[in-house]
Amino acid sequence: MKITCIGAGYVGGPTMAVIAEKCPEIEVTIVDINPQRIAAWNDENPDNLPVYEPGLADIVKARRNKNLFFSTDIKRAIIEGDIIFISVNTPTKTYGVGKGMAADLKYVELCARQIADNAEGDKIVVEKSTLPVRTAQSIKTILNNNPRGLNFQVLSNPEFLAEGTAIKDLHHPDRVLIGGDQSPEGLRAIEALTDVYAHWVPRERILQTNVWSSELSKLTANAFLAQRISSVNSISALCERTGANIKEISKAIGADSRIGPKFLEASVGFGGSCFQKDILNLVYLCRHFNLPEVANYWEQVIKMNDYQKHRFAKQIIDSLFNTVSGKKIAILGWAFKKDTNDTRESPAIYVAHELLQDRAEIHIYDPKVTREQIFKDLNYLAAMNHATYGGDFDSPPVEEMEGISVHVHNEPYRAMQNAHAIAILTEWDEFKTYDWQKVYNNMFKPAFIFDGRNILDKSALRKIGFDYSGVGN
Ligand code: UDX
Ligand code: UDX
Repeated sequence: MKITCIGAGYVGGPTMAVIAEKCPEIEVTIVDINPQRIAAWNDENPDNLPVYEPGLADIVKARRNKNLFFSTDIKRAIIEGDIIFISVNTPTKTYGVGKGMAADLKYVELCARQIADNAEGDKIVVEKSTLPVRTAQSIKTILNNNPRGLNFQVLSNPEFLAEGTAIKDLHHPDRVLIGGDQSPEGLRAIEALTDVYAHWVPRERILQTNVWSSELSKLTANAFLAQRISSVNSISALCERTGANIKEISKAIGADSRIGPKFLEASVGFGGSCFQKDILNLVYLCRHFNLPEVANYWEQVIKMNDYQKHRFAKQIIDSLFNTVSGKKIAILGWAFKKDTNDTRESPAIYVAHELLQDRAEIHIYDPKVTREQIFKDLNYLAAMNHATYGGDFDSPPVEEMEGISVHVHNEPYRAMQNAHAIAILTEWDEFKTYDWQKVYNNMFKPAFIFDGRNILDKSALRKIGFDYSGVGN
C-alpha cells in the first residue's frame, strides 16, 4: 500500500513520519507546493527540519528515503497513493464573505481539484485539515466530477495532536476518529484506514462515525478545551482583585473527578493555529444555521481570550507608571507554547503589539523562534489591523515605522540587561533555570516581572527584590 500526504506542515509532517515508523511495509510520500519546505525536510542537518517537535528528527532520520519520502512531485504522488491525506492549512478568511470568521478553503479545494485531474484509479481521500462541517461534501462533489469516472471515498480523520507533544500524542492517542459514508464502499474505506492505525493503536480506541460527526467532533473538542482556559482565565481576573490564588483554585476544582486536572492553567491567553480558528468556524456555522444564541455562547470564549491578552499588556503599562514609552521591556518567549517553534496566534504577538503602540522598546528572546518569524508576525498583525481599521495605503513594515523599536536577541541575559520590566510569554523550561539574582542586578529599579505563565518561583523572586506579578496569583 502507498500513502500520500499533501501538505508538509506541523500536522502532515509528524503524522506521516509516525505512520512510516509504525508501518514499515507502507510507502509514505509527503508532497508540498513549497519547494523550500520540502528541501528543509530532506536536509541532512536535523536542526534544519521545518518543524521542531521533540522526537521528530530521530524518526525522520530513521525512515527517510526508506519508506518516508518528501517530494514536490504532487502529480506522481497522487497517481501512486492509494490513500491520499489532505493536510494543507485552512486559515481564517481575510477577505469577502465570512471574513475574519470562516475557514478559507481555497487550498483544500485546490488539492481536491489536483486529485480529480491527476488520479488514474480509485482513491480514498482523507481530510486531515480541520475543516468546517460538511466540507467533505464539497470535496466529494469536486472529486466526483473527475474526467475519468473514477470512484473516490472521502473520509474525515481529524488530528488531535498538540504541538510540542506531537510524537507522544501520535504514539499514544486517546482516540483516533474516522468518519465516512455509511454505504458499503464507505465502510470499506473506513476499515482500510482503521487497518493503518491498528498497526499501533488498540482497535477499541479507533472510533468510527459518520462524516459529519467526525468533522464536528474536532471543532467541539477544541472549543471545549479553549473554553476551559477562558473560564479559568476569567476567574484569574477576579483572583487579582480579591487575593484568591488561581493556582490553588485550579488544583481544588481539578481534584473533582468530574472536572479533572488538565487544561486549567491560567495564562496570558491561549494561542496556536487551531483554537481561535475552530471556534470562529463553529460560530460562523451556528450563525449560518440561524442559531444566534449558540453562536454568541461560543464567541464569548474568544472574547475572553482577547480580554486576557489585553489585560496583561495593560497591567504592564499601568504598573510602569502608566507609560512604557522609551522603556526597555524584555519579552521572554514568542512561541504560543513551549517546545515548538510555531508562533501562530501566539499571545506574545498581541502583547508586543500593544506595548509597541505605547512606544515601548521591546527586546525579545525565544530559544526556537527566528528573528524573521518575529517580524513576520508583527507585520502580519499590523497589516490585519490596518485592513480592519482602514487607511488608503498599505501599512509600512514594522521595522520601518516611526518610533518603533524591536530587538531580537539570541542570548537571554542581553535581552534583559538594563530592562525596566520582563514579561514571560511562553513557559519554556529554561526560563526557570536563569540566574535571577544576576538578572536583577543588571535591571532598572524597581525591577518588574510579569509572569504570563506562572512558571517562576514568586517568593524567591520577591526575596531578591523583584516586583513580581503572575496571572491570578
Ligand atoms: C494544520 C492543519 O492541517 C490545519 O487544518 C489546522 O487548522 C492547522 O494545522 P499545519 O500542518 O499546521 O495545518 O499547517 P502548515 O504548517 O501551514 O502546513 C500546511 C502545508 O501545506 C504548508 O507547507 C503548505 O506549503 C502546504 N500547502 C498548502 C500545499 O502543499 N498545497 C496547497 O495548496 C496549500
Ligand atoms: C490544540 C489541541 O490540544 C489539539 O488536540 C488540536 O489537535 C490542536 O489544537 P495545540 O494548539 O497544539 O493543540 O496546543 P495546546 O496544548 O492545546 O495549547 C493551546 C494553547 O492553550 C497554548 O497557547 C497553551 O499555552 C494554552 N493553554 C493550554 C493554557 O493557557 N492553559 C492550559 O491549561 C493549557
